[in-house]
Amino acid sequence: MQTLTLIRPDDMHLHLRDGDALKAVLPYTARQMGRAVIMPNLKPPVAQVEDALAYKQRILDALPPGSRFQPLMTLYLTDNTTVETVRAAKAAGVVAFKLYPAGATTNSDSGVTDLFKLLPVLREIAAQDLRFLVHGEVTDADIDIFDREAVFIERILKPVLAEVPDLKVVFEHITTAEAARLVCEAGDNVAASVTPQHLLLNRNDLLVGGVRPHHYCLPVLKRETHRQALVAAATGDKAHKFFLGTDSAPHPQHAKENACGCAGMFSAMTAIELYAEVFEAAGALDKLQAFASQNGARFYGLPENSDTVTLVKQAQSVPASVPMGEAQLVPMRAGGEVAWTLQQD
Ligand code: DOR
Ligand code: ZN
Repeated sequence: MQTLTLIRPDDMHLHLRDGDALKAVLPYTARQMGRAVIMPNLKPPVAQVEDALAYKQRILDALPPGSRFQPLMTLYLTDNTTVETVRAAKAAGVVAFKLYPAGATTNSDSGVTDLFKLLPVLREIAAQDLRFLVHGEVTDADIDIFDREAVFIERILKPVLAEVPDLKVVFEHITTAEAARLVCEAGDNVAASVTPQHLLLNRNDLLVGGVRPHHYCLPVLKRETHRQALVAAATGDKAHKFFLGTDSAPHPQHAKENACGCAGMFSAMTAIELYAEVFEAAGALDKLQAFASQNGARFYGLPENSDTVTLVKQAQSVPASVPMGEAQLVPMRAGGEVAWTLQQD
């Protein structure tokens, strides 16, 4: 049987939530990943260093016994973030600040209303060698939802990079050919995370034959040509700038299957296996290790993980749902199969 051994991967974009949800979802990631960059969009957001340290401790406390998983903490950028907070974040081991344009997605009400007012903070983020993680969508009501990422590049990202050229930016969960091109053409201080859903699915998977609320995420799935551009970027000449970031974002089943369903796909259960499908279909399994285990670590200035994982080309069934506290959680590929299986330790 075909097997593939990789340096243990990291998930450079993960939502773990808190409380019962955290306890339910964390073991899935801890089984696969050495580390994960933890998103700060709790309610209220993780915007102060003390909040991040307390959240980190709750994550460590929720880990299965013996786990060596390490959470990498981030802070939520708000209109009120100060340069002092940036310095304190660096001193406390926080790895990054996350930009949510106000109103862009789940729990983004405290997000930034005018990034250009925060240029001194961005300069301090660069000076402190922290990473700047961007949810790259504008939120203007008159911009079509399928164009919001491309417009963000022109109106926000390019002007910000012109002002702070040494800022180390992760363009998070990219979904378009325009974003892939921006990253390829920028300096090595600009990289991108790519989710399994944006590499495997297009907007037909969201809308054809009925609305599929479990395929609703933000940025929203795009047309097939964009999906192909992302696969080409993650496997092409500039592949060193692209890395694994699942954006696994659990919501209870009742909040997804709802007249106003929440955005987010829960992919952590089979994350590395889903990416293996993508790279196999592209004839690029030899590039999976760089994407999953090396490019992200290098961009964050971290050593590679010291152990390995082994994938077996053997289909696994994905359950229709799993418990999350008193609710149910519907994973990506629920009720279906994933072509690869991570070998148990
Ligand atoms: O689909 C998404 N869900 N996109 C995001 O940016 C946030 C995330 C969440 O927190 O649920
Ligand atoms: Zn996210």
